[in-house]
Amino acid sequence: MTNYVTVEKLTKKYGDLVAVNSLSFTVEQNEIFGFLGPNGAGKTTTLNVISTLSDYDRGSVTIAGYDLAKEPGKIKALLGIVPQDVAVYGSLTAAENIALFASLYGLRGKELTSATDEALDFVGLADERKTRAGKMSGGMRRRLNIACGIAHKPKLIIMDEPTVGVDARSRETILLSIRKLRDGGATIIYTSHYMPEVQEIADRIAIIDKGRLAAIGTEQELIGYVTDRKTIRIVTGSGAAEDIRAAVAEMANLAGVKSAKYGGERGEIRVDVSLESANISPILKTLMARDVAIKSFDEEAPDLETTFLALTGSELHAGDANGEPAAPAKK
Ligand SMILES: Nc1ncnc2c1ncn2[C@@H]1O[C@H](COP(=O)(O)OP(=O)(O)OP(=O)(O)O)[C@@H](O)[C@H]1O
Ligand SMILES: [Mg+2]
Repeated sequence: MTNYVTVEKLTKKYGDLVAVNSLSFTVEQNEIFGFLGPNGAGKTTTLNVISTLSDYDRGSVTIAGYDLAKEPGKIKALLGIVPQDVAVYGSLTAAENIALFASLYGLRGKELTSATDEALDFVGLADERKTRAGKMSGGMRRRLNIACGIAHKPKLIIMDEPTVGVDARSRETILLSIRKLRDGGATIIYTSHYMPEVQEIADRIAIIDKGRLAAIGTEQELIGYVTDRKTIRIVTGSGAAEDIRAAVAEMANLAGVKSAKYGGERGEIRVDVSLESANISPILKTLMARDVAIKSFDEEAPDLETTFLALTGSELHAGDANGEPAAPAKK
């Protein structure tokens, strides 16, 4: 893997407000790079700089070996942009909108027609090619917005909240297609408020907060930054308390076990194990060997949500993919 985008100590201010503060990260060629952060973290500001749409105060951005400050034109030619605010023309049809954007990138004639058709297919709007954008539903316009950004087969695709308001089925189609774009050689920077979506699609994730990088890595790496353990909870049935205590003492010495405790009203055992421990049978065997009944056991593993909370101190304006407030976490 080689770095395709290198952002170094990027700073962007709006008056006194430091929207992006000495931010550094790299995006590897051919990956889907997830960009996560709470509202106002500086995601769109960063993407606007990378997209050559906004100036910046300090730092440097290199894309495909081109320095953004010196050769913005070279970079522009590589880009496909799907903006957070839908930018399509209401009076034009779906096909006309796509053709307009693709022609700005130099596509003409047959190439333009086939690129337009492919992009319509890509977002599931093939049957709506003659529908005016102004008459489309919000979700359809979002899909058209995506088609306009990718029709010219860009090398670097920057997607800022592309699926807000898109229904679940279309979203799945879109996510599948984004993977296809990556498999076809594109590099994708993907911002979403919908954490499960980022988890599902991103090869690596950057968490940014207040204009700074909080963490970067694969989902498992990010979780590993915050904690090195998960908890196995075991509820015992019949069995002598001294047997259970002896089993728990034995558990504490097993490989991968960080600590084991017994107590509480329900006679619950809590065993902290290293994150990568997969085999819990040695733990359960210490009880079985002493004829202690096991009523139930489960695993409390940290997820990206808890990691995000630990790193930023705020919940992601989580919401569902339609931008609705998140339902309370399931117990
Ligand atoms: N044109 C602007 N003028 C002044 N301040 C701005 C401008 N654009 C953004 N900001 C401020 O810069 C900060 C970063 O905004 P940005 O839009 O980059 O955040 P974001 O991470 O994309 O947020 P969201 O999740 O809400 O899209 C915010 O405090 C915002 O108010
Ligand atoms: Mg934004």
